Amino acid sequence: MHQRNMTTLPLRLFEMTKSRGINGTLSKRLIYSKLPKLMPPDLNSTLKTFVEFAEPLQTNDKFQRTKQVTKEFVESGEAQKLHELLVERAQNLNNWLTPWWLNIAYLEARTPLPIVTSPGVAFPPMEYSGEEGQIDAAAKMIQAALNFHHKILNNELPEDRAGKVPFDMSQYKFLFGTTRIPRKGKDEIRYGASNKEWPKHILVTRNGHTFQVSVYDKNGNILGTEALEKQFRDFVIPNSQTRNPAPVNLVSSDERDAWAAVYQRLEKKHPELIKSYENALFILCLDSPISHDSSDRSRAEEQMRQMLTGGGADENGINRWFDKTVQLNIGYSGACGVTYEHTPAEGPPIATFIENICEALEKREFYKESSAEIYEKPFKFNFNLDAADDDAIAAAAEKLNRSTMDLEIRFLPFKNFGKNIPKKAKLSPDSFIQMAFQVTHYRLHNILPPTYETATLRKFDEGRTDTIRLPNPASAEFTKAFVDRKENYSSKNLSELFRKAVESHKNYSIRAMMGQGMDRHLLGLRLIAAEKSLSIPKIFNEDAYRKMSHFLVSTSQVPTKYIIPMGFGPSANDCYGICYNPQEEAIHFTITAFNSCKKTSARQFAQELSATLNDFKIMLENSGDLKFESKL
Ligand code: COA
Repeated sequence: MHQRNMTTLPLRLFEMTKSRGINGTLSKRLIYSKLPKLMPPDLNSTLKTFVEFAEPLQTNDKFQRTKQVTKEFVESGEAQKLHELLVERAQNLNNWLTPWWLNIAYLEARTPLPIVTSPGVAFPPMEYSGEEGQIDAAAKMIQAALNFHHKILNNELPEDRAGKVPFDMSQYKFLFGTTRIPRKGKDEIRYGASNKEWPKHILVTRNGHTFQVSVYDKNGNILGTEALEKQFRDFVIPNSQTRNPAPVNLVSSDERDAWAAVYQRLEKKHPELIKSYENALFILCLDSPISHDSSDRSRAEEQMRQMLTGGGADENGINRWFDKTVQLNIGYSGACGVTYEHTPAEGPPIATFIENICEALEKREFYKESSAEIYEKPFKFNFNLDAADDDAIAAAAEKLNRSTMDLEIRFLPFKNFGKNIPKKAKLSPDSFIQMAFQVTHYRLHNILPPTYETATLRKFDEGRTDTIRLPNPASAEFTKAFVDRKENYSSKNLSELFRKAVESHKNYSIRAMMGQGMDRHLLGLRLIAAEKSLSIPKIFNEDAYRKMSHFLVSTSQVPTKYIIPMGFGPSANDCYGICYNPQEEAIHFTITAFNSCKKTSARQFAQELSATLNDFKIMLENSGDLKFESKL
């Protein structure tokens, strides 16, 4: 897919920001660091790590076979040959992994976007209720979002870093105007940055109706809040008083091939509307009131449910266009957030976007007046649908309702401590938390769970992610000792095993972030074999690889200053999905599971996780690793 170089964007846009910069200040255009190129890691080290990760997952017989098959993979010369082909690919591309990753993880997947693929993010609760409050919040958030967009376009965002190491900033440039287009077999991604002319509109949905709404004026400046509000008050709201009986956008929640068939018909019948949809900077959903059953879930959990599925087709699911990278959802009673399509970006750039909106709301950085008339009057989408479209809408509605019902979401705001305690014990907080997931799962299910954790590769040009995985031999040893045989160990010995496990996870995390991870390297060897029409090596059909590919815990850390919970569904029916935000004195977890899986329970996991974290602290206190800490 052709991506426009952002330095070639129209100068007018830059000038436009200058003229409407917040508080009239002109900020400086930054030059971001030139980043190193990602290369495939050392082959022997990848295969050695594969064997190490296999050990805790397998019986001894099967593990011996894994060692044998891995040895044959090396001795036959097959591994080396594939690795050399991979190195050749890396030499010819900016990033050997990212284009493949976009296909494998996103565009070729045929499963629905909501729940597992598209995360939800919730704003802190806002104090308004009713239509007027909703209109006010919508206008302010549009202005804040567009100001953030201008900062991106003008390279004004401070460079993201891990310590002193700069991160790739390109994902920010894909957030606005980007749409994933459903196609049979494999979707396309159309980046907003590739538009010849910068769009001046967003789409607004309400009660399942869709409207094109201008967000710029005729001078090319972002509209003042009065003009934005007026479009809602005078046009959108009066024209969406009842629920649309045929909200065709709902099919964007279905399997991709089902949506592709409907989309193709819409493209033929309504090319202008589809163009408006694809070009729109983002979708803004003016959601309807929701009935909140407090016995089943908290308000925050309900808010996350709205961000992940819109609460299903009978609630606000009819307002989502799931293909659009940013769907900004404005609740009727102050519960707002974002549903985001994952293909163009990871969670952290989205979290920065939302934090920027939070800051603008806190500082009340808004202006009421526009510099000129609105760019274009709003209009409503009217689709001419046929029977096949109606059937597709009904089928999508039924499936979205079913999957919404199946999703269990639990929040755990763990407030007894945060990063401060592991830091005090000279342990990595992230690895400490990952060990808590291992122990919690083992306590509940007596299984060492294959666990996925996102490792960022943004240290590299166009870098996306690798996998930090557990269990490994050290984590397995500690987990079993802590849960099964505590009485056999002194607190000092147990604590030493813990430190060894935490450090082994941390060392592997560093390796993964340095581009030396095992998972994507193995994926690369498999994909290059397929691309060159070579036979797929035996190692990929073995028990160890199959077990490693079936995650029972799927996790991502997304740290933020504000409490803006992010959540996503489990990657398999018997898996837990966990997004966590470690702060200095608290850790916020969003835990999901499927009700249809009788083994898993997000509620139980949350309770047990809290107990495990407390137990870790007690262990460190008892061993003297946490001096001067009072008991819980
Ligand atoms: N002793 C004392 N302090 C320590 C320590 C130790 N042994 N090890 C780490 N720390 C400190 C760090 O210096 C850091 O300090 P800070 O809070 O002042 O910044 C803090 O503890 C956190 O470090 P740690 O918990 O080890 O993790 P991290 O912040 O380096 O993050 C990853 C690790 C793997 C989570 C992160 O690098 C990453 O890749 N995140 C992926 C994010 C992402 O893309 N998510 C996708 C969502 S879709």
